[in-house]
Amino acid sequence: MPAGYAADGRKEGAGGMKAEQKSRGVEGFLLDLQAAIQDSRFYGPKHALTEAAAVRVRASLHEAMAGRTEIVIGVIGGELAFGNKPLYDLTRHMSSLIAALEEHKVEKLTFMGEVPLADIRSFIELLTCRSGEMTTAAGELGSITISGIGLEASPSGSVLSAGTVEETYREGPRLLGDIGRALHDGLPVNTRAANTFIQKVMKGFLGNKAPFLIATSLKKHDEYSFVHSINVAVLSLAQGEALGLPKSALADLGLAGFLHDSGKIALAADILRKKGKLSESEYEKVSQHPLDGAKLLLQTPDLSPLVPTVSFEHHLRYDGRGYPRKVFGTELCLASMIVSISDVYDALRSRRPYRGGLAPELAFKEMIKEGGGLFHPSLLGVFFRAIGIYPPGSLVFLDDGSVGIVIAPNPADIRRPVVEIWYAPSGETLRVPQVVNLTEKKPGRNEYLHMIVRSVPPEAGHKIPARYRID
Ligand SMILES: [Fe+2]
Repeated sequence: MPAGYAADGRKEGAGGMKAEQKSRGVEGFLLDLQAAIQDSRFYGPKHALTEAAAVRVRASLHEAMAGRTEIVIGVIGGELAFGNKPLYDLTRHMSSLIAALEEHKVEKLTFMGEVPLADIRSFIELLTCRSGEMTTAAGELGSITISGIGLEASPSGSVLSAGTVEETYREGPRLLGDIGRALHDGLPVNTRAANTFIQKVMKGFLGNKAPFLIATSLKKHDEYSFVHSINVAVLSLAQGEALGLPKSALADLGLAGFLHDSGKIALAADILRKKGKLSESEYEKVSQHPLDGAKLLLQTPDLSPLVPTVSFEHHLRYDGRGYPRKVFGTELCLASMIVSISDVYDALRSRRPYRGGLAPELAFKEMIKEGGGLFHPSLLGVFFRAIGIYPPGSLVFLDDGSVGIVIAPNPADIRRPVVEIWYAPSGETLRVPQVVNLTEKKPGRNEYLHMIVRSVPPEAGHKIPARYRID
């Protein structure tokens, strides 16, 4: 909490009237704006206290501009952001302002140059009124743009809810394509778009993990597709969340997972998708991609230093082997070890030119075999507790011959997730699916009701239920 403010973000002192002497930057401006909206709601837009609050907002905006030509404030996944930097600490105290912005479906505010008091008043009044009444002020605030207080409506109306997963897998590849082209051509990378994207994914994932994990299981792709990068980001968020990382670290981790293979943009597709063994020179080129990626990402402004670090380290092993050779320090960065686990797991589950994706239980076995060599063993444990041996999205045979889809992991027992049964033991499709938690026991007995025998291979012909399919 910034000094001098009460828990609701209003300035301490009588009615929030106490003047602040030193510049409080953008945070001070936002706090004053929130207080003014509250005053306007409480006393009405024409009241003297609301007028005084508007004057304070103008003064603090002037201070915050501090030589800038514009200030851009975003609302990304329920968090406030200045430019493309989330204001995590401040967000906790700005629920009233965020609610007002979200009610009006405002995603971005741009304040330009000297903002007249009249525009500030109109803006406060705008955010005070109900969303259906807002058109009166729209278009009249040249210095703030209501297409210029820079009001931009969120396309979905809400930040991330049910549509999030589909949106992630639709937007992500497009964004990665743009970023790849910019890196390749030496053009500026749209880091704001990348940060916004990952904030949305993080928000959606933290709100409802299962659909994202289901998507990582079910999206059909090969190891080198953009989908792989999205899966790596999601699986890394799953690990970070299980480790209890704060949101700011999670966002950086997600972005690092998303961009970990940026160095591959310079590699020819025929090398990446070659079926046979790589020649020595081809291997040499492939093993350069972590370094190439790190160099490109280091030149990208406004990117967390974690992103190039992970790019450089994601093929380095826990036991110190791997590529490129470790050149500094004795330990890998935590994020690199997390992303490495996500990367290898998703690659094992992905189609290769010479084989289909591995069944989840086989991928689990392969990974466990490598624990302590390729991966940090404790982190590997965290990973499988977060997703399970049969992660959400896996089709599984139960011991009575029925078939279902895993819909939620169980961190307490990685073999016993929650399953939605769709096929009876006879093979018939159930009209109403039955959800079973595999930790349930038979009444009065110390025996489980069901257990998973194995995953269902594609050739068995069982279809993924329509409501879990993702194109
Ligand atoms: Fe890689």
